[in-house]
Amino acid sequence: MGFATDAIHVGQEPDPATGAIVAPIYQTSTYINEEVGKNKGYDYARTNHPNRKALERTVAKLEGGKSAYVFTSGMAAIDAVFRPLRPGDHVVLSEAVYGGVYRLSTQLLVHFGIEFSFVDTSEPALVMSALRPNTKMLYIESPTNPTMRLTDIAVMAGLANDRRAMLVVDNTFLSPYLQRPFEFGAHIVVHSMTKYLNGHSDSTGGAVILNRSDDAERIYFLQRSAGAGLAPMDCFLISRGLKTLAVRMLQHNANGQAVARHLDAHPKVKKVFYPGLSSHPQHDIARKQQKGPGAMISFDVGSLEAARSFLHNVKLCSLAESLGGVETLISLPGLMTHASMPKEVRERIGITDGLVRLSVGIEDVDDIIADLDQALLQA
Ligand SMILES: Cc1ncc(COP(=O)(O)O)c(C=O)c1O
Repeated sequence: MGFATDAIHVGQEPDPATGAIVAPIYQTSTYINEEVGKNKGYDYARTNHPNRKALERTVAKLEGGKSAYVFTSGMAAIDAVFRPLRPGDHVVLSEAVYGGVYRLSTQLLVHFGIEFSFVDTSEPALVMSALRPNTKMLYIESPTNPTMRLTDIAVMAGLANDRRAMLVVDNTFLSPYLQRPFEFGAHIVVHSMTKYLNGHSDSTGGAVILNRSDDAERIYFLQRSAGAGLAPMDCFLISRGLKTLAVRMLQHNANGQAVARHLDAHPKVKKVFYPGLSSHPQHDIARKQQKGPGAMISFDVGSLEAARSFLHNVKLCSLAESLGGVETLISLPGLMTHASMPKEVRERIGITDGLVRLSVGIEDVDDIIADLDQALLQA
């Protein structure tokens, strides 16, 4: 079946007990045993529950993985991917990763003896020189948040395989509708489902998708032992959101391209970072591994003052963290999502004070552009 059909039907079967077209929310913490050791497949909601199992089936199918495990947030999912590492293990990460991943690795996991190197993974030579005999994982975001730099997933998979290391790809910015990292050799895919997968800004969630059964066992062990598995109501909301993923992504992608072209020609905008523009340094990689450029754009308005004034004056676009919802969200990474990065690191990787990040929603694109224009005029 095609992607849109799978999104609506896999894991989204009617309830066999009542025939309800939408399966109910199993808002219960425990399940009765018919006798000791005999139940209907569920015993306790931390370990598993029907809404989680259903969502995990849908997400695994859409990403093209064998299994998926869902967590209370994207960060909980990413934490679960790092946890099986041991003291002395080394990880190479994209230097412009989401600020929360930077914080988790440099301020928490480093105390457990895990070593981290941040490099520009869009340059394979830099990745090669960062690899060590103890490198166990390559962790990339493509596109990166918020600099929109791309990494060639197939090249990274080759480097990881040579070292018997894992390649983990954060696919949050594109969703499996626009990019499927397993097709290019990734070993693990992670998502903040808070973003496009749910798409309606009314829940947080994260997913780890796997294609090897030994990795899956480790992640399931962590999910049920550490207890950060996603609750029934949130699973229900994200399952509902996923039904429209294909149509939402089509519109996000179309609106993203129109807004990026408009900003690129705007006299008040210094530079636009968007993989769909032919001026983007990795435009060719976008064409190779992405089905479309998506709806995440960052652009430089020149200074912190101009950015503040612009953000103050938008009316339709909402000044908020997060992305991937139906509504257009706008933010200032240097002071918001990436505030936990030291200023010199931010500057080195291109997160300037005037860099604005835009998550283009699916409102009428003319309305989005008109709002950006009137705010830019005052910047
Ligand atoms: C690319 C990316 N990965 C992971 C996360 C973390 O997800 P969550 O906020 O659901 O924990 C975010 C959050 O913004 C993100 O942008």
